[in-house]
Amino acid sequence: MIRTYSNFSLKKHTTFGIEATSKYYFEFTETDDLAGFLATNKDWPNLPILILGEGSNLLFVDNFQGLVINPNIPGISIVHEDRNNVWLEVGAGVVWDDLVEFSVFHRWGGIENLSLIPGKVGAAAVQNIGAYGMEIQNRIESVTGYDLETQTEYTLEAVDCQYSYRDSVFKNQLKNRFVITSVVFKLDKFPEFILNYGDLKNEVEKLGNVSLRNIRQTVIQIRESKLPDPKVMGNAGSFFKNPVVDNVHAAQLKAVYPTIPTYPSSAEKTKLAAGWLIEQCGWKGFRRGDAGVHEKQALVLVNCGNATGREIYDLSEEIKQSVQEKFGVELEREVNVISLP
Ligand code: FAD
Ligand code: EPU
Repeated sequence: MIRTYSNFSLKKHTTFGIEATSKYYFEFTETDDLAGFLATNKDWPNLPILILGEGSNLLFVDNFQGLVINPNIPGISIVHEDRNNVWLEVGAGVVWDDLVEFSVFHRWGGIENLSLIPGKVGAAAVQNIGAYGMEIQNRIESVTGYDLETQTEYTLEAVDCQYSYRDSVFKNQLKNRFVITSVVFKLDKFPEFILNYGDLKNEVEKLGNVSLRNIRQTVIQIRESKLPDPKVMGNAGSFFKNPVVDNVHAAQLKAVYPTIPTYPSSAEKTKLAAGWLIEQCGWKGFRRGDAGVHEKQALVLVNCGNATGREIYDLSEEIKQSVQEKFGVELEREVNVISLP
């Protein structure tokens, strides 16, 4: 199935719920459709390209004067299995949380802590999604897609995806060039649970035994208690990444602010909690017009109604500046801002 449109409204295709249009829009459900479309539409090499999933990590500050490509490819299939593991090939268009539910249902472990993260499977491999002590890079075996530049389809093994915290080759050299069509995940038949994030272990035990189902349920409960539901209030999750600084800088901050949360990142680096830094600058619950900072999680910027992309973006720049001034820490955006001049 393919769908093509001109001047297509993206409002319902982003979780910020902000009006923006794309000049052209192409959605397809089978990999061959893409090559066919490109062969018959000779203008596309002159257009800016944006690959779209569910739009849960995008902020449009302007209309997009190019071609949006949405690889809405379905399907979950077992490609290999042995005594301990199962390998699943999953279409880029599968809703991420449907895959988590599917794996928990089959009692395959490895992605249960990533329950309820919005978005599609293709983007999960781009973003290296993470939560509650898990990162998807540890479960990805390979990523297949179509390279718009070379007009070929190929597969990257996980080691070639250059994964690190919320980063990958797909966010850099291959950004808006490699259309991911499917991802292979390796899951465990005898899972080892990861429960060392915050209070997760205690919360799971309140439900009884530690199981994939109870972990999933607990993660969902925690997330629902502090993150805004995009259907109710527009947002894109954490607007910034948690900053990683030198150990020396972290120690200096700890001396002045003894309650600052810090997490070891590597031998020389420490990760800080951007939400804490932003809250300390007084932004938590702030609102200007319909653009605001969530009252329960300062790392999440929200659209309380009819904020424009520009209003959210301008607020984010003010926040960034105040964190820089107070703590000497530079925040980097996690959200992709589209069509910045
Ligand atoms: P989009 O927003 O549509 O796209 C994201 C990026 O991936 C863009 O650069 C896009 O061009 C690219 N892209 C999308 N699909 C493809 C493809 N098939 N091929 C190539 N490039 C592609 N993230 C976390 O890591 N952890 C969390 O805990 C978390 N919590 C969130 C909570 C809320 C309430 C919200 C709204 C967001 C949260 N996020 C979280 C962020 C977001 O859910 C993830 O980044 C998600 O992977 C984005 O998926 P998407 O399909 O919406 O991608
Ligand atoms: N904190 C505050 N004030 C706030 C928010 C947080 O002081 O307003 C403090 C908390 O008290 C805690 C620390 O900051 O000590 C960390 O907070 P939390 O556990 O809520 O996680 P986070 O670092 O803010 C990260 C991810 C989330 C992910 C959670 C759970 C990033 C940028 N964000 O948030 O991912 O769900 O951990 O693992 O790494 C996303 O990427 O969109 C996202 C939501």
